[in-house]
Amino acid sequence: MPSNLILFGSTLGDTERIAGRLAKLLPGETRLASVATFRMASLMDFDRILLGTSTWGAGDLQDDWESAVGQLRGLDLTGKTVALFGLGDASGYPDTFVDGLGILHEAVSKAGAVRVGYWPTDGYAFDASRAVVEGRFAGLVLDEASQSHLTEERLGRWVREL
Ligand SMILES: Cc1cc2nc3c(=O)[nH]c(=O)nc-3n(C[C@H](O)[C@H](O)[C@H](O)COP(=O)(O)O)c2cc1C
Repeated sequence: MPSNLILFGSTLGDTERIAGRLAKLLPGETRLASVATFRMASLMDFDRILLGTSTWGAGDLQDDWESAVGQLRGLDLTGKTVALFGLGDASGYPDTFVDGLGILHEAVSKAGAVRVGYWPTDGYAFDASRAVVEGRFAGLVLDEASQSHLTEERLGRWVREL
């Protein structure tokens, strides 16, 4: 059984592609899974859990997360290490930038996990985001629409900090 899980929700494939790149960068064995087909109770089988979502509508979680997030709220993740990543578009949606990441953060914050992978807001131009927690993003933020040239460096730096 791999020790890492990367669980993603992705509509057009951006978050899925990023999840695949993360899997290559993470040390150790990694299982990559879509939340559309994953049994949430199996989260307990992994020591390090990375959860990724894009944001849709006006600040909504990616669709496949909608039912899974309720199950996430009910899990006891004591002893697990959890990191989050979110994709959004700051120029198109500056008032709800990566809000989905914030919704995931709210769901896991009461689950008892060790939370890692918070990320500075410097270098992102947005007006409001539910993903900002005490001045930092609740996880890695990537903007494939307008800052894809920064993604490689951000991924490498984030993985080194986990
Ligand atoms: C209709 C629509 C609504 C969106 N709403 C938001 C939003 O509220 N906030 C945000 O940061 N990005 C928003 N986005 C941008 C997506 O999150 C972004 O394109 C992302 O890379 C898509 O990833 P996916 O293919 O993994 O779902 C929206 C995009 C579309 C097309």
